[in-house]
Amino acid sequence: MSAIRSVARGTGSYLPERVLTNADLAQRIDTSDEWIVQRTGIRQRHIAAEGEFTSHLAVKAAERALAASGCTAADIDLIVLATATPDQTFPATSVVVQAELGITRGAAFDVQAVCSGFVFALATADAYLKTGAFQRALVIGAETFSRILDWEDRGTCVLFGDGAGAMVIEAAPAEAAGTSGLLTSHLRSDGRHRAKLFVDGGPSSTQTVGHLRMEGREVFKHAVGMITDVIEDAFAATGETAASIDWFVPHQANRRIIDASAQKLGIAPEKVVTTVDIHGNTSAASIPLAFDLAVRDGRIKTGQLVLLEAMGGGFTWGSALLRW
Ligand code: ACO
Repeated sequence: MSAIRSVARGTGSYLPERVLTNADLAQRIDTSDEWIVQRTGIRQRHIAAEGEFTSHLAVKAAERALAASGCTAADIDLIVLATATPDQTFPATSVVVQAELGITRGAAFDVQAVCSGFVFALATADAYLKTGAFQRALVIGAETFSRILDWEDRGTCVLFGDGAGAMVIEAAPAEAAGTSGLLTSHLRSDGRHRAKLFVDGGPSSTQTVGHLRMEGREVFKHAVGMITDVIEDAFAATGETAASIDWFVPHQANRRIIDASAQKLGIAPEKVVTTVDIHGNTSAASIPLAFDLAVRDGRIKTGQLVLLEAMGGGFTWGSALLRW
């Protein structure tokens, strides 16, 4: 076991002002509030304004996370930002955030694991902190999925929204951390599934940004099994159980996937933090958005055990268990 533990200090999040309801969508495409709510649990999503980029959302979430942590930007020496919708092909959106926050030391880079991005970014930052290379990290999930949706495709455009969430974690000697901090993380991917959920463009292939394409039923079919597998790994690694966790903060893809996963694992419904109804699927931003909401409304309290889980394009999937 590493002598260093990554301890979470605070969270922050940001949602663009504009809300797009199911009723709004029903005026533009052949869909209905009833269909969307019944299949996904989504009632509304936030959409970035013209000229509002992923980095803008990320900076606001990061500033709030820093304030909640009692840290200043100068305390941060690592930024790991998860996104599938960067401002530009390069540089990484994380360096834009770094510059906007006025940070000139350490390193910043992006992680691309689509909807699993926040769990991958958290595990990556944790690994770096444990080596002693960095002291305090901003882990960010930020997306503007509205920019890669085909707004004529009712099978996908109703599902996603924009937003950003951030968490500050810092390296602490394991003895000082006590039982708090990131206890375990488990990352998986299997590229054989890459054609089930992808964007049909990119700099090397088409020289276009492209649009999100998805075989919804295929994603659904694999999601619950993959999610529960990787959570079982987290339980096996720590000895924790569905009964001992205080909160389950899953990736917010779809109400039915969340409910089925919790049920299969035996996690009580009242422990599940759900925001998919108000945020839609914000990809890498969904976990830190939901986490921040539950911290700020007083549900997640100091000392409590929180289970995170995500699954997304690739497929990629992962879990993390942390004591707040
Ligand atoms: N409104 C009304 N009708 C619709 C809509 C819509 N928005 N979208 C599709 N339909 C229609 C289809 O055209 C089809 O009509 P038809 O029978 O006349 O051909 C019918 O509804 C059924 O379509 P399916 O795609 O088979 O619908 P399904 O029951 O599978 O639900 C959904 C679609 C909600 C996408 C579901 O497959 C799902 O939840 N999949 C999981 C995917 C997911 O959550 N992805 C998020 C990204 S991945 C991640 O984050 C993990």
